[in-house]
Amino acid sequence: MVFFHVLFVSNLLVVASKQVVISNVLPRLDTNGSYVDAHDGCLVKFDNTYFLYGTVYGKCHQSTTICDAVCGYLNNTFALYTSTDLVNWTFISNNVVPEVTKDNNHINYWMPNVGYNTRAKQYVMIYWSSRYGFQNSIVALAVSSTPFGPFVNVAPLEMQGGKVISSTTGLFVDDDNTAYVRYNTRDSPLRHVIEKLSPDWMTSTGQFSIIFQKQDYPWFEGGGVFKRKGVYYTMLSTDCCFCQWGADARTFTSTDVLGNWTYIGQLNYCADGKAPPDHVDGMTVNPCSISDPYGTNFTIPAQQFNVATLSISSQETLYMYYGERFRSSADGIKGHDFQAWIPIEFTDNDIPKPMKFYANFTINIQEEHM
Ligand SMILES: *[C@@H]1O[C@H](CO)[C@@H](O)[C@H](O)[C@H]1NC(C)=O
Ligand SMILES: *[C@@H]1O[C@H](CO)[C@@H](O)[C@H](O)[C@H]1NC(C)=O
Ligand SMILES: *[C@@H]1O[C@H](CO)[C@@H](O)[C@H](O)[C@H]1NC(C)=O
Ligand SMILES: *[C@@H]1O[C@H](CO)[C@@H](O)[C@H](O)[C@H]1NC(C)=O
Ligand SMILES: *[C@@H]1O[C@H](CO)[C@@H](O)[C@H](O)[C@H]1NC(C)=O
Ligand SMILES: *[C@@H]1O[C@H](CO)[C@@H](O)[C@H](O)[C@H]1NC(C)=O
Repeated sequence: MVFFHVLFVSNLLVVASKQVVISNVLPRLDTNGSYVDAHDGCLVKFDNTYFLYGTVYGKCHQSTTICDAVCGYLNNTFALYTSTDLVNWTFISNNVVPEVTKDNNHINYWMPNVGYNTRAKQYVMIYWSSRYGFQNSIVALAVSSTPFGPFVNVAPLEMQGGKVISSTTGLFVDDDNTAYVRYNTRDSPLRHVIEKLSPDWMTSTGQFSIIFQKQDYPWFEGGGVFKRKGVYYTMLSTDCCFCQWGADARTFTSTDVLGNWTYIGQLNYCADGKAPPDHVDGMTVNPCSISDPYGTNFTIPAQQFNVATLSISSQETLYMYYGERFRSSADGIKGHDFQAWIPIEFTDNDIPKPMKFYANFTINIQEEHM
């Protein structure tokens, strides 16, 4: 549903504000009517266009309530869709890093995160690869002169804040275009680290900060990093290997990205309002319903992968939680699973509020047409 009104017109530029409804219950389709199959990646704005990069999960069926190590693991590629209004999505490619097809029949690929380096004038992607994840402290890196790709692999990053990177990696680009990689470690204590890259983003500076560490299960995955009014936030979530119940969102803040981080609260409670326990016995356990994988889910029944920070108009920046609702598609096809997009809301004192699941929500978005 779209309502338009023109804000101003100059001889070159038309800036129009329109109201759009983003749905979490209707399948997200492209302009061709096909499902948007781009998961666990990122949603970023370059110039006036929104770019959705994600993993193609394809047509397989996940057989169990958690990951089965086949569906969503093998034959993954990275897709790109674009939009000017966050609802009308154009399919660009289902293979923006063509090199992954050389070995994706046995190497797992997830979490494409893209940023634009203004100094080097190139688009940079980091992604998780089982060539490195669970093996060593390396993070895959690929570059392109345009946001449309193809992205070509370059010498990967070697992180300094851990010996073995675990299950998640993400990219955060600060206002001054400095980039940081957030990752969890497999070597103990199990840490969440944020580490600063060199000005060209091609190496690590070796400067890092530990956001949080924890030894027992569930250790943490996640999560989005964002900055609002000079404060940095990181949202971490309980381990969820394609689990259908979702994961929480423990939120930490700092005024210095490389400084000390403070826990401020839970933003994703169980759907019955309870907090998940600090310890559960394993990955097959639903923290919101210990004895029943089919019982109560999290409020947002999704595993978090990111927070999209989107300047949707000259007045408004949208901070949007971005997670995967595994085993949520009506037809059981993994590539058709819903992605939860939830606006993060703040109190008058700038404290993020626990999230609510919105079946749909309305935003006012500005589009610029030359
Ligand atoms: C669009 O849909 C048509 C008909 O289903 C199909 O032949 C075509 O390949 C699709 N194009 C893209 C870019 O997905
Ligand atoms: C991956 O691709 C290979 C080759 O096309 C195929 O044999 C295999 O079944 C695929 N596996 C999955 C999980 O899609
Ligand atoms: C959707 O986007 C395409 C490509 O930019 C455009 O041609 C089409 O008019 C748009 N449709 C709507 C309903 O905005
Ligand atoms: C961070 O915390 C440590 C230990 O509590 C303290 O020694 C240090 O001064 C703190 N650093 C900053 C920048 O606040
Ligand atoms: C939890 O989410 C799964 C996957 O979408 C769904 O099958 C199940 O019905 C949900 N459980 C409840 C109690 O809502
Ligand atoms: C949005 O959700 C509300 C409440 O579920 C529903 O009444 C309304 O029809 C939905 N609107 C759209 C455009 O999906």
